[in-house]
Amino acid sequence: MEADIWKSPIDLENRFFAAFRSADVGFTKVGLNGEWLRVNPKLCELTGYTQEELLSMTFQEITHPDDLEADLINMKDVLEKKLAINLLDKRYICKDGSIVWVHLTATLIRDEMDNPLYFIGLIEDITERKQADEALKKSFKEITEIKTQLEQAKEIAENANAKKSQFLANMSHELRTPLNAIIGCSEMLQKIFSDSLTEKQRNYVHYIATSGHHLLNLINEILDLSKIETGKLTVFPEWIELEPFLANLMPILMESASKKNIHLNLVLQKGADRLEADPVRLRQIFFNLVSNAIKFNREAGEVNVQIFKINGDEACIVCRIQDTGIGIPQDKIPELFSEFYQVDASYAREAEGAGLGLALTKHLVKLHGGDISVESEEGVGSTFTFKMPVQFTSPKMDI
Ligand SMILES: Nc1ncnc2c1ncn2[C@@H]1O[C@H](COP(=O)(O)OP(=O)(O)OP(=O)(O)O)[C@@H](O)[C@H]1O
Ligand SMILES: [Mg+2]
Repeated sequence: MEADIWKSPIDLENRFFAAFRSADVGFTKVGLNGEWLRVNPKLCELTGYTQEELLSMTFQEITHPDDLEADLINMKDVLEKKLAINLLDKRYICKDGSIVWVHLTATLIRDEMDNPLYFIGLIEDITERKQADEALKKSFKEITEIKTQLEQAKEIAENANAKKSQFLANMSHELRTPLNAIIGCSEMLQKIFSDSLTEKQRNYVHYIATSGHHLLNLINEILDLSKIETGKLTVFPEWIELEPFLANLMPILMESASKKNIHLNLVLQKGADRLEADPVRLRQIFFNLVSNAIKFNREAGEVNVQIFKINGDEACIVCRIQDTGIGIPQDKIPELFSEFYQVDASYAREAEGAGLGLALTKHLVKLHGGDISVESEEGVGSTFTFKMPVQFTSPKMDI
């Protein structure tokens, strides 16, 4: 009768194994010493052994030596009722020597007297998951290594940069002292002994003085940049009345513009009357930009300077310097504010300069919480615009 069949433990086991015959997980009955007693086809497929071969072996024989101890400890704990079930991720060594990762769920079957009989094991192939885990771990390790290398490289670069800035600061200082003496003496020669000098000698002295000034300017720019890099450049803001400030500055610029026959126009719009900034630095910014507009202009060109105020969340003074010069190719614009960058080195050499003015100008504008931008068309001209809050604000971001 059907009911009797179900009562027989052997039949029950047979039915159980029949159900797992075509299952996609390994299913096994293992003796208390580890001998395989029954195995389903999936387990054979997983390990590469035939059913006959497996049944003549123990699980210990195909378990990876590194995983065996954990497996045996679990098994012992289950037998001693310290553990309800043996759950373990482990490796089998297949017949062809390859490794397969499995997740084992082994349950101990006991008789009515509670004596251990055998283990029933479910064996899932988790090789792909483990491989993915391993790949993830490897990537993580690689990323960590790369991160460490980058941090080291950054530290080395920062140290080198700090040393470079320190070197530049020291050198600039050392160079300035004798240079000031050269400039001072040449100016004294020009003023006091001008009458007793021949024309040729006067020209030589003039040349010494202008070259000295040029070199001093360059050294000062390098010193400023190295101070900015080490965060040591401090601005001293104060309220500046723009009209007198510009009236003081314009004649020097007018003079260099007139040498090239350039018309330099200034429009200071109503409302743009005051600005809280460091006057030395504002002068430097303005001077650099207008000097460039003159230097990179054509003969008899124009430079239009327009200063106005915008009232928004934060009132700002905007200064726009527009020229009719050689212009800047679009692909060169992103590099324009980098140190020592010159679009056309031969032209710049002829026009004098080291490519530091714009880099310094940008830093100085940013130190005032402002911003600078440029629009340009080759052969037509360029417009540099800088904007600064009317009331001094510390830099919003890294400079
Ligand atoms: N108004 C402009 N028109 C065309 N090109 C410009 C203009 N301003 C700057 N440039 C280009 O940008 C480069 C960088 O300008 P920057 O002021 O930094 O250096 P410089 O004028 O060559 O030298 P320095 O200012 O250090 O004396 C210039 O060499 C030039 O190629
Ligand atoms: Mg310049």
